[in-house]
Formats: sequence, C-alpha cells, structure tokens
Amino acid sequence: MIKKGSLILSPLFKYTRYPFRVIATEYGANITITEMVSIKSFLAHFSKKFNLNTYRLIYTDSKEKNVGIQIFGDEPKEFEQVGSEIEDKTKFKFININLGCSKKKISQQNMGAALLRHPELVEKLVNSLSKGTNLPITLKVRIGWNRNVLPEIVKIAEEYSNPWIIIHTRYGTETFATPAHLEVINEISNNTDLPIIANGDVFSFEDIEEYMKRGAYAVAIGRWAKGRPYIFMGKENASWEEKVELLDKFIEYTIRMYKDCNEITTDLELIKRFALDLTKNKSGGREIRRELIACKSVNNIKKIFK
Ligand SMILES: Cc1cc2nc3c(=O)[nH]c(=O)nc-3n(C[C@H](O)[C@H](O)[C@H](O)COP(=O)(O)O)c2cc1C
Repeated sequence: MIKKGSLILSPLFKYTRYPFRVIATEYGANITITEMVSIKSFLAHFSKKFNLNTYRLIYTDSKEKNVGIQIFGDEPKEFEQVGSEIEDKTKFKFININLGCSKKKISQQNMGAALLRHPELVEKLVNSLSKGTNLPITLKVRIGWNRNVLPEIVKIAEEYSNPWIIIHTRYGTETFATPAHLEVINEISNNTDLPIIANGDVFSFEDIEEYMKRGAYAVAIGRWAKGRPYIFMGKENASWEEKVELLDKFIEYTIRMYKDCNEITTDLELIKRFALDLTKNKSGGREIRRELIACKSVNNIKKIFK
C-alpha cells in the first residue's frame, strides 16, 4: 500500500476533498486521506438523513486508488459500527484514526490528540474498529499530549497489524509556533519495523530528505501542498499556464463530485479556496485575490485566471 520514500498528502480540514486529492494523486502522491470526519455525522448521514456537508467530505470514486477516510470520535461502540459501514457503504481503501487534532473544540471532548492522554482508550478504540471492519486501520498521531507516548501507541499499531502510522512531530499542547521535534523520528524508527510516516514542518525537498535520513519510511505533507500539488512530482514551482490548467482540472473534478448528488452545486467556496492558493507568490496576486473573494460564479473565477 505504501512505497518507501514516497509522499503522502496529509489530511487538511476543508481542503483534502475529492478534487484536490485526485489532482495530488495524478501528480504523484502515493496516499491521500480525507479531512477528519466525525463518526456521529457519518453514521447519521447513512442512517438518518442525507447531509450535504458529510457528502462533501466522503465523496470518492474509481479515480482514487489509495485513499483513506479519517475518522474521529471517542465511543468504542461507534468505532465498531462505523468500521462496518465504511466497508459496506464506501470505496475507501483504509481507515485512519485522528489522534492528532489539538483544536479546543475537539480536545475538550477528549477526541483527537487529547486521546493520547489515555493510551488504554486508544487501544480500546482500535480494537473496536478492528471488530467492525477488515479494512486496514492506520493512525495519525502526535508525539503525545504533553508526554511522549509513541512507544505505547506504536505497540498498539503493531498489535493490530496497522500497515503504517503517521507521526506529526509535535505534542498536542504545541502550536505551529513551536518547531517540529524531528529527533523523535530517529528514536521511534530505531525501535520498530512499522513504517513511520513523518509529518510536520516540511516546506522544501531538503526537509523531506532530512526526515528520510532520520529513518522515516515516507513523508506526509500538509500546508506546503496547499495550492502546490506539483510538489508531489518533485517540482517546487509551476508556471501560471500550469496553474490555469490546474484550476480547470479542479473545477472539472468538483463538478464530477456532485454528479450523483441531487443537490445542484458547484461548490464555489471550495474552488475559490484552491484558486486563492494558486495565486500565492504571483505578482499582482493581491489584486487577483481581492477579485476572487468577490466572485459569485465559477465562470467569473475562470475569467480572472485567463
Ligand atoms: C488548515 C489545516 C487543517 C488540518 N486538518 C487536519 C485534519 O482534518 N486531520 C488531521 O489529522 N490533521 C489536520 N491538520 C494537520 C495536518 O495534517 C498536519 O499534520 C500538520 O499541518 C503538520 O504538517 P505540515 O507542517 O506539513 O502542515 C490540519 C492542518 C491545517 C493547517
């Protein structure tokens, strides 16, 4: 499922949706993952009422080869149920558990990275999920909440035959203002055969090399990938013409994403978000972004890019 030395698209809220994931895959991302999906919302979407927001997060089709769904929650019973429903009702190839989100709204409910305070509960959740599904289970973690629990968490991953684990090399209590602790990758990769996907503060190909030297099996990229899917094919920059093509592709895939959906939408907000990122570092970019923000139709967005 994972190639040594490959690049993975790290999950990004409101961003790693179908159009961007497909483009990242076409440009060489080995694995892509949805943004975090609440287990409760997933279950309600299928058992109670169609929810357009959930649909947007979990849409996938045959264009995606190596895509996983990332879930978050804290109830073992729900993990078992969601595992079975993901396998029955979607085409995702694996399930990733979010043990890395440190946003207050999530951690106050004891979900995401806050779960790392209780490795025994993490084990319970992984165990429940494994009862509900035969799909591979993977984890995305931080080093810990405020103490290093990687040895305990990696042991759980090994026990449940996880194919790999993503480690964001920060503590749950830390923000992006604290530099990533790259050295934890040396420590943990020396003590396990589990493929370690390193994540955090990669903004150049040298940063990727640095993690690989420290024993990472592969590297997951988040913020650097926004508006720059070409980094997955080893390119640091793209011409404006290439960016115009990227926007066209993104719009095409956004339309495709809603083809089975009764709600007529072209998701202007999603397209705008990507278009805004494409204008980073462009001369006159500020003026373009002002126009983009005011745009009320996809055609107008296209016109601005021509
Ligand atoms: C805007 C934004 C949204 C994110 N959303 C998620 C998410 O839904 N699930 C998750 O596991 N991590 C999420 N993350 C964390 C990233 O996947 C990644 O772990 C983190 O940004 C560090 O990697 P980077 O330095 O390459 O960005 C998010 C990060 C950002 C900046």
